[in-house]
Amino acid sequence: MTLFDVRKRYLEFFSDKVRKHAIIPSASLVPENDPTTLFTGSGMQPLVPYLLGTPHPLGKRVVNSQKSFRAEDIDEVGDNRHTTFFEMLGNWSFGDYWKQEQLPWFFEFLTKEIKLDADRLYVTVFSGGEGVARDDEAIGIWQKLFTKKKITAKYAQMNTEEEAGEKGMGKDDRIFGYGVKKNWWSRAGVPSNMPAGEPGGPDSEVFYDFDPSGKMHDQKFGKHCHPNCDCGRFLEIGNSVFMEYKKKEDGTFEKLAQRNVDFGGGLERITAASNNDPDVFKIDALWAIVEQIAKVSHKTYESDERSFRIIADHMRAVAFFIADGILPNNSGREYVLRKLIRRAVRY
Ligand code: SER
Repeated sequence: MTLFDVRKRYLEFFSDKVRKHAIIPSASLVPENDPTTLFTGSGMQPLVPYLLGTPHPLGKRVVNSQKSFRAEDIDEVGDNRHTTFFEMLGNWSFGDYWKQEQLPWFFEFLTKEIKLDADRLYVTVFSGGEGVARDDEAIGIWQKLFTKKKITAKYAQMNTEEEAGEKGMGKDDRIFGYGVKKNWWSRAGVPSNMPAGEPGGPDSEVFYDFDPSGKMHDQKFGKHCHPNCDCGRFLEIGNSVFMEYKKKEDGTFEKLAQRNVDFGGGLERITAASNNDPDVFKIDALWAIVEQIAKVSHKTYESDERSFRIIADHMRAVAFFIADGILPNNSGREYVLRKLIRRAVRY
């Protein structure tokens, strides 16, 4: 599928008669009224006031595809899956539906609309920590969804990536519990980094398995493979955050006035999964840039994948920066733009 098809299907799926979400446009890469980051790096950022209780003019359910940039991933670009710029598909419940709707809907979207094989999907949930209990409700929902597809879905408590690497995956393990580092989401990351007033909560991620044979695993990433392993076998394609907490001044958590769903899905990665190719640079939107680089450099992608990927990613980001009014200079966002151009030139 193309990037355009996946985006269109997602927006249509969530705005249909069953799910009734209002489609909203992407906000700018330059955050408005949000000094916490230089760039919009997730779909939730422009929507924080509504997550904290301000009524959204279009109601309690909205859906979008948000332009996002994550400078922190810049050194990871060059492998088959990391990009600095991406589009984040998002569906939002502002104090409306909850886990019982969100997880089945996303599963249906992936298996029916994108036609991914359910057997290639693995999920993670919050295993508990920082005074918040393990997400047994999400575990139960996932077990039912996999059982309907005749897939045995055992729960495996991993806690940390290190433990998971030691333990490995049992034959029928399908739902994996990890702690705050992997299955808790807030703009600031883990609970201890959250400032007072910040919303966050446990999440549940879906991974696509590009290599059911397991041969892709490299022991340099840990003894055994598991969904959060960095060997490239599993790719995270979507994250449902159950945002129901707010950090208090004293460091503990209180419940938000409303329970929210903040879903974020990697548009480029879901497109790569739809094509069953773990190289996100092979999707149409990035491949067009790769072809252009090949044309002007008289080199092939295969001869230097890393450089092709860095140039393609950075040039795409640069185009979106400029379209959002950022121009190269020597500080802040403008410096990041200059750095992207400089890195692309170097490669
Ligand atoms: N806020 C979550 C994320 O960025 C889900 O949208 O992953």
